[in-house]
Amino acid sequence: MTSTATPAEDTVRAVVCTELTGEDALEVRDRPRAPLGPRAVRIAVRAASVNYPDVLMIRGQYQARTEPPFVPGTEAAGDIVEVGAEVTGLAVGDRVLSVVGVGAFATEAVVTPPWQQVHRIPDAMPYDEAAAFDITYGTAYHGLIGRGGLVAGESVLVTGASGGCGSAAVQVAKAAGARVLAVAGGAEKTALVRELGADAAFDHRELDPADPKALSALVRQHTGGQGVDVVFDTVGGADIREPLRALAWNGRYLAIGFAGGIPTVSVNQTILKCISIIGVAYGMSALHDPAANARDMKALFDWYREGKVRPSIGHRYPLAEAAEALRVVRQRRVLGKVVIEMPSDVSSPAAGR
Ligand SMILES: NC(=O)c1ccc[n+]([C@@H]2O[C@H](COP(=O)([O-])OP(=O)(O)OC[C@H]3O[C@@H](n4cnc5c(N)ncnc54)[C@H](OP(=O)(O)O)[C@@H]3O)[C@@H](O)[C@H]2O)c1
Repeated sequence: MTSTATPAEDTVRAVVCTELTGEDALEVRDRPRAPLGPRAVRIAVRAASVNYPDVLMIRGQYQARTEPPFVPGTEAAGDIVEVGAEVTGLAVGDRVLSVVGVGAFATEAVVTPPWQQVHRIPDAMPYDEAAAFDITYGTAYHGLIGRGGLVAGESVLVTGASGGCGSAAVQVAKAAGARVLAVAGGAEKTALVRELGADAAFDHRELDPADPKALSALVRQHTGGQGVDVVFDTVGGADIREPLRALAWNGRYLAIGFAGGIPTVSVNQTILKCISIIGVAYGMSALHDPAANARDMKALFDWYREGKVRPSIGHRYPLAEAAEALRVVRQRRVLGKVVIEMPSDVSSPAAGR
């Protein structure tokens, strides 16, 4: 990646994806400030976080393809520095987080509610935690509670539990009063998920590869032989019979992500224990029902204030090293969330206008 000196007042420093070939094609450039439409707000970005789709997007592998040159980055937090004439409910000076779609890896982002959500953050929430909050906790809350109907006293199995969505799901499930079993790869990752509140953590690297039912057997051991009520699966893979076997009667399997591949399921597997396979699409659900999304975010901010949920940030990089931040996620080294912090000298050039 290339870098330049401090940008001029009318420019924004941004990471630019120049070709769909991955991290090596990212460049840090100063670009002209984007115009602001009447329904848009301009955010001086203080921090952004990396989500798995960002890694796919810079390779042209994400379901919604964006052609280069573009500024990657799905979510950011910062200060509103300008609002369009038709914007209501948001004002200059508001501290916010936002799912911006693309464009978060820059010192400024222009977003247009309601299709891109902008939420005011609690006073006590720092920008790095705010940048790491919406997609992961929103997905965990919408998935577990909205789609999965999780209630206190039930049990949950979280896969990919040390990653962004997984670590949020562990905390959200605990905050909802559930018992949480978690799967992660390696001692450092299982230690992290225990720290986050998991009642039991299984290291998938230690499961007997010759035993195709090793995981579900462990889950049954820890649930009095019953299995869990909900599986929050961020990994997928060609074969998800194991997470399905891990379910109890009337269990719900939440299809969250496919870091390990997209599974094919035989529908007859659902009738053995009356289980439901439920798709979760957080971003699209927030667009379809912004009021429900606002309610979910309010509930999450309340839990944040009460100390029940808090992003676990395992890696921090300056904007100039955004490529390395993305590599951490792609190479499966991530512990919790990866945050990109903006240079303080250029983070809010428009502040005070
Ligand atoms: N449905 C929705 O609304 C929604 C919303 C947000 C994200 N997602 C999806 O959820 C998934 C997880 O996102 P994330 O941001 O939490 O990702 P992440 O932070 O990179 O975590 C993914 C975890 O999956 C595990 N994993 C297992 N097999 C893997 C593989 N082959 N490659 C990479 N990781 C693998 C890794 O843990 P171990 O090394 O411990 O196994 C890793 O920690 C992604 O597929 C993403 O697109 C879905």
